[in-house]
Amino acid sequence: MLERTYVMVKPDGVQRNLVGEIITRFERKGYRIAGLKMLRITPEMAEKHYAEHVGKSFYPGLVEYITSGPVVAMVLEGKDVVAGARKMMGATNPAEAGPGTIRGDFGLDIGRNVIHGADSVASAQREMAIYFTEAELLQYEKAVEAWLYE
Ligand code: RTP
Ligand code: MG
Repeated sequence: MLERTYVMVKPDGVQRNLVGEIITRFERKGYRIAGLKMLRITPEMAEKHYAEHVGKSFYPGLVEYITSGPVVAMVLEGKDVVAGARKMMGATNPAEAGPGTIRGDFGLDIGRNVIHGADSVASAQREMAIYFTEAELLQYEKAVEAWLYE
């Protein structure tokens, strides 16, 4: 099914110069970038984004981490992109993420796992609304799509 998902290069990914590498992986897979921006997450945005984790032991460290520097936020579109992008990221803990995945290839520690990806279509909708206005999400087609989809 044609879906949209929310993906974000976390502050460690930006500091470690992985932005281009990560965007390249999604582009080469065939996903279309519908929205893209760099921003610094405020504590208020972090609380909204990670509402499901409020109260957990790792929550304060998570907010400190995610607000510690600029992130690169993007909306990707494509067939089954929610699950597909999560697969490309690998397990939450880079120690358990397989080789070939973003976390498996570029991370060591669960608290510095380089990238975020929405875990469902509903989460994607909710998260996109935190970071993008509808007008910032572009609708367009690329000629290559005839070669990506039967
Ligand atoms: P994300 O939301 O960032 O894409 O990651 P996820 O779904 O794979 O993991 P989730 O359970 O939603 O956790 C969100 C983020 O919190 C940090 N975390 N730290 N120290 C810990 O035990 C721990 N557990 C989670 C990670 O940055 C994780 O990506
Ligand atoms: Mg999550």
